[in-house]
Amino acid sequence: MARTIAVSNHKGGVGKTATTKNIGIALARQGQKVLLIEFDPQGNLTVGLGYKNLDELPFTISDVIMKIVNNEPFDIMQGILSHEEGIDLMPANHNLSGFEASLINELGRETLLKRYVQAVGDMYDFILIDCQPSTNILTINAFVAADSILIPTQAEEYSKDGIEQMKSLHHKITASGMNETLKFEGIVFTMWDRQTRYANRIKGEIIEMYGGSINIFEPVIPFTVRIREANDKGISIFAYDEKSKAIEPFELIGKEIISNESRRQESRNQFRRLVPGGGAGTRGKKQDRKAVHR
Ligand SMILES: Nc1ncnc2c1ncn2[C@@H]1O[C@H](COP(=O)(O)OP(=O)(O)O)[C@@H](O)[C@H]1O
Ligand SMILES: [Mg+2]
Repeated sequence: MARTIAVSNHKGGVGKTATTKNIGIALARQGQKVLLIEFDPQGNLTVGLGYKNLDELPFTISDVIMKIVNNEPFDIMQGILSHEEGIDLMPANHNLSGFEASLINELGRETLLKRYVQAVGDMYDFILIDCQPSTNILTINAFVAADSILIPTQAEEYSKDGIEQMKSLHHKITASGMNETLKFEGIVFTMWDRQTRYANRIKGEIIEMYGGSINIFEPVIPFTVRIREANDKGISIFAYDEKSKAIEPFELIGKEIISNESRRQESRNQFRRLVPGGGAGTRGKKQDRKAVHR
């Protein structure tokens, strides 16, 4: 079953989408099967992976949600786009923006994305959900569906505010029982400018305030216009500029995410060995996705 990570920050323009895309591709380059889910009606991730005609997409995450709401069967791989760099994408467009109002009376409206993630989870090692910058029903769905939250942030005074919002929503989700085991994957500093003492001071303060409870990734993503240029071309920094200074940090963060997950799996397995028949049940083996296409 895939580890599902919600990439989220209450603030816009902090590098959530760039982080989702480039860490997703870093994971794929390290042999992982990766699905990115765009969960922002702006469609920036979808466009940034080269699917520029958002209105022409035949089947997006909004269609998935509506199929689930209406209890209509569908092929769980429907609409998933295969990117040339080895990741899959479930895209989104502005159709997702009407979601909040239209589901106001829907029972279980917080678990719609979770139901989809559980259905496709056997096909992937990692699912990354690119969230929109707010704490509405879309973000709640992402937090209910996820195993952990990854918070990209710039090193600025307001960053603490964004992290506080994430902690508060995390608390609400776990305390409500909607997802009691939701964790933090960590905080990633983005658009980092090595020259500034200011950034270092803020980073130090964030480590002091949150380092005890949230993992703070040591590698930082540098500010580089190459990330923007890669976005305009619909590819990752890996494909755009193999010498970019952003490559190593994305690779290292990907590696850390994989090794954290391997450790967790190992301790789950140990628990099963110690307590025969214990644990959360035996998960099915990852299926060949072709089997689902029939
Ligand atoms: N490390 C970086 N260096 C320079 N520009 C970046 C970097 N990361 C993201 N950007 C650019 O900054 C803008 C906002 O980033 P984005 O990832 O879309 O943020 P968010 O998803 O949080 O709104 C985009 O134009 C993106 O290409
Ligand atoms: Mg974004």
